[in-house]
Amino acid sequence: MVPDVHETVFLRGRRVYLRPFHGETDLKFFQRWINDPRVRQHLKTRSPITLVGEQKYLDHAGENGDVVLTICLRDGTPIGSMGLHRINWIDRTATTGSWIAVPYWRQGYGTEAKLLLLRHAFDTLNLRKMCSSAYANNTASIKHNLNAGYRIEGRRKKQLFRRGRYYDEVLLACFREWWWPKWKKYRQAKKR
Ligand SMILES: CC(C)(COP(=O)(O)OP(=O)(O)OC[C@H]1O[C@@H](n2cnc3c(N)ncnc32)[C@H](O)[C@@H]1OP(=O)(O)O)[C@@H](O)C(=O)NCCC(=O)NCCS
Repeated sequence: MVPDVHETVFLRGRRVYLRPFHGETDLKFFQRWINDPRVRQHLKTRSPITLVGEQKYLDHAGENGDVVLTICLRDGTPIGSMGLHRINWIDRTATTGSWIAVPYWRQGYGTEAKLLLLRHAFDTLNLRKMCSSAYANNTASIKHNLNAGYRIEGRRKKQLFRRGRYYDEVLLACFREWWWPKWKKYRQAKKR
């Protein structure tokens, strides 16, 4: 029997879980939201993303060894995606990326999913340092990373061009010891 995709859980959290990307269920949903101007304005993609293009990207990501996961609510509803990219097994570093569909913003889901992803990165893959970056005006991205243990490690002046002007790029990083206290607090709350 083919297992129901909604029963596949890779990382289980209190309000969300992360599971492998599943073409049939997720492709249209991914393509819709990464093209949406409200989400896209914060990403580094510039061109329209077709269904075929998105499928190719995801196939390629798998071949690269990137970890691409779909974020779901406990009832199985997909709400976004989070992943580990550019994994370097010598330096033991990776870059995290994330997006969540607009109706699910500001409900703590991004923070929770990031805590779960870092648990996998540090305690399963034995990675050492996670990196991320955001447009300086992307408060949500910076804050959800800070909530999960990241700290700001630098700022590249007028690095990114969007909507006719240059923005600073904020560089963030997280070591296991910065993530751990946040994880502990989350786990304690989870038990209650
Ligand atoms: C970044 C993103 C994944 C965060 O997900 P989320 O589920 O909305 O994040 P959370 O609900 O965990 O919020 C984290 C913090 O950011 C704050 N926040 C969220 N959206 C905000 C906004 N638009 N303006 C100001 N603060 C915001 C929350 O209040 C929360 O702060 P708090 O802990 O002090 O209360 C989501 O906003 C998103 O997909 N944005 C578009 C794509 C993107 O920016 N990806 C990252 C590219 S670097």
